[in-house]
Amino acid sequence: MSSIIENRQITVGVTGSIAAYKIVDVVSKLVQQGAVVDVAMTSAAVNFISPLTFQSLTGREPYVDMWGVHGVKGEAHIELARRTELMLIAPATASTMASLAHGFADDFVTLTALATKAPLLISPAMDSQMWDHDATQANLKLLRERGAHFIGPEQGRLASGQIGTGRLSESQKIIATMKACLGKLEGDFSGKTVIVTAGGTREAIDPVRYIGNRSSGKMGNALAEAARDRGADVVLITTVPETAPEAIQVIPVESANEMESSISDYVTKAEVLVMAAAVADYRVNMESEQKIKREHMKSFSLDLIANKDIIASIDANLIKVAFAAETEDLITNAKKKLRDKNVDLVIANSVTGEASAFGSDTNKITIVDNQGNAEELPVLSKYICAMEILDRISNLVGADSYKEEGSSSN
Ligand SMILES: Cc1cc2nc3c(=O)[nH]c(=O)nc-3n(C[C@H](O)[C@H](O)[C@H](O)COP(=O)(O)O)c2cc1C
Repeated sequence: MSSIIENRQITVGVTGSIAAYKIVDVVSKLVQQGAVVDVAMTSAAVNFISPLTFQSLTGREPYVDMWGVHGVKGEAHIELARRTELMLIAPATASTMASLAHGFADDFVTLTALATKAPLLISPAMDSQMWDHDATQANLKLLRERGAHFIGPEQGRLASGQIGTGRLSESQKIIATMKACLGKLEGDFSGKTVIVTAGGTREAIDPVRYIGNRSSGKMGNALAEAARDRGADVVLITTVPETAPEAIQVIPVESANEMESSISDYVTKAEVLVMAAAVADYRVNMESEQKIKREHMKSFSLDLIANKDIIASIDANLIKVAFAAETEDLITNAKKKLRDKNVDLVIANSVTGEASAFGSDTNKITIVDNQGNAEELPVLSKYICAMEILDRISNLVGADSYKEEGSSSN
């Protein structure tokens, strides 16, 4: 499966910030993922990084001198602006933000930004005092109102040695936001809200101990990432928020009860719910407020009570996808789960043996639909598994305004 970035015409505008060297990494990664990248630079940017660096990485001559001859029939900036599908300006200086906000077009970056209809992503980098300045904040507001998207700046150590807001966002975050933007342009989930749950819930025994399971959250993360790349507004409800992909909404939870309550906050606004989390069936009846001491106990029992079956209890009109992590009779159990839980698809995966899904970057899934079909896929990366699952969901979503007609296929 190709990346959403592949073959996309992307223009990266580089301006005169000390962080300019970091954008070399972004350009390199975009090229590695198959994007056609043109770089435009301000004359200030050339003081920080050589156009030759970008030429070597992209195999294309960077646009630096707007009075230069660029070997195109018409005007170079118009030609560039027309074929650009997404324009990233990173790092964006305070000065360039001011130019963009007020429609100046006196260098190749601002000229192209003014001439293009492509979405504009701006990743500022500057000293925190420049960022906090009323002028910069007013320009930020103007640009946002006009539909520009912003990534960062982040808090952290600045070139001055001070700690503050002004750091350029990490490459990974910039690229993730670009993918989300491209997905929204034409992805089949654009305009749809997809809730994904990930990780294993933790049921507290006392303030330091819990009952957990071996789920890593990787399958849920892959689903969230793939849905984001296909344009969805993703809400990832997860017990492992520290591993969540970039550019999606993350709701951290611990227990099954917390997960259920977060799902109910979003479920009425969503078109799809994918429960990839491993939710505990039981919780401790009386969680101890204090750490339970070892004392002289020879044995120790916990009184467990059943948690609500989250997916079965949701009666909102949306597509529901459950996961079945089984150690035996995979398909029989998956089919039973499909009926019992009243869901549209069950993704069966084995959690024992070589192809075990737990903790791995790959998975071997069987997709069971409510017609009783069971489609077994080979071992694939979890991202590709996620894309396959989304293909099946997309068919269901596309089955003529699912929500309006209330035609749940259960
Ligand atoms: C060493 C040095 C580092 C600079 N770093 C930044 C920066 O990180 N962010 C910023 O907004 N301006 C920074 N500036 C100021 C800009 O380079 C200056 O405003 C320039 O005119 C910006 O031009 P441009 O926006 O057309 O690239 C820096 C200037 C110098 C001399």
